Amino acid sequence: MTFVSFPTVRMRRLRFNSVLRKLVRENFISPERLILPLFVRSGKGIRQPIPSMPNQFQLSLDEFAKEISEAVSLGLGGVILFGIPDVKDAIGSDAMSDTGIIAQAIRVAKDVSQDKLLVISDVCFCEYTEHGHCGVLREDSSGKTELDNDATLENLVRQVIVQSRAGVDMVAPSAMIDGMVGWIRRGLDGEGFENIPIMSYSAKYASAFYGPFREAAESTPKSGDRRSYQMDPAASAAQALREIQLDINEGADIIMIKPALAYLDIIKLAKEHFDGIPIAAYNVSGEYSMVKAAAERGWIDEKLIVQETLTAISRAGASIILTYWAKDIARSL
Ligand code: PBG
Repeated sequence: MTFVSFPTVRMRRLRFNSVLRKLVRENFISPERLILPLFVRSGKGIRQPIPSMPNQFQLSLDEFAKEISEAVSLGLGGVILFGIPDVKDAIGSDAMSDTGIIAQAIRVAKDVSQDKLLVISDVCFCEYTEHGHCGVLREDSSGKTELDNDATLENLVRQVIVQSRAGVDMVAPSAMIDGMVGWIRRGLDGEGFENIPIMSYSAKYASAFYGPFREAAESTPKSGDRRSYQMDPAASAAQALREIQLDINEGADIIMIKPALAYLDIIKLAKEHFDGIPIAAYNVSGEYSMVKAAAERGWIDEKLIVQETLTAISRAGASIILTYWAKDIARSL
């Protein structure tokens, strides 16, 4: 075979004008595949800015309702909700109550959106517990405090049932508790919610990129960290595949990799290994804040950076992207 090269081949031929460049493009961002994270709290008329995340807010339900109608009119695929309760306790009771903040938010979102976007709930306890860990704590045999995996499973099921009764369209367990997807699937099925899909945070790393989110959701652990349940960033990539495989076996309908940017290799690997199941990626708070901070100083062009970033996440293999820029992107498209 002869290797055809310059001057027969000129790669620039297909780059000469924008119509041509668009013709040969293969990676697209569209609003219907974006999911906007929203933080909800009690009160009225509250749009409390989150200092480390410019243009993101803790919203009271009335303000939240406005946000939902805007998300609908921009054609977003969905919203993912995080509740900030008035009262936190050891087990995160507010998340398991039909009158808790997340149940209320789901009802409002469903009411406003009228099935024109997906109302997705994050399923976890870190925002609802006073200690800030993702489930129930216990003392192990040596007297050390640890996250009680199996007791947390039962509470995660209570949480998704409350969310489902409130009308949620999809649940997104993010606690990285072993067995959570299977328990949640059986729990939902047992209550007649067999058609509610599970988007699992399958490969979720113990990442410093969640820093700003923890300010937003008031969920920083009071002591210790999440390294005994979230993945070690330095673990083998094969471990991520194992986590994903387990979630698929347990009934995950969509798998998620989080954070997105430092883990594009994992997204790509997941796409190669599990083509046929939708892959989501979470463009997390730290990724957002870094760009915002540099843009505020005029050091980078935010709009172009965001387009390039989301394109990279999509090119790596994620068809669904959770991003705080969802509205801005939809507006600019
Ligand atoms: C857990 C949860 C977290 C994020 C989404 N779901 C925080 C954590 O695991 O510490 C982080 C999202 C972000 O950083 O944007 N409820």
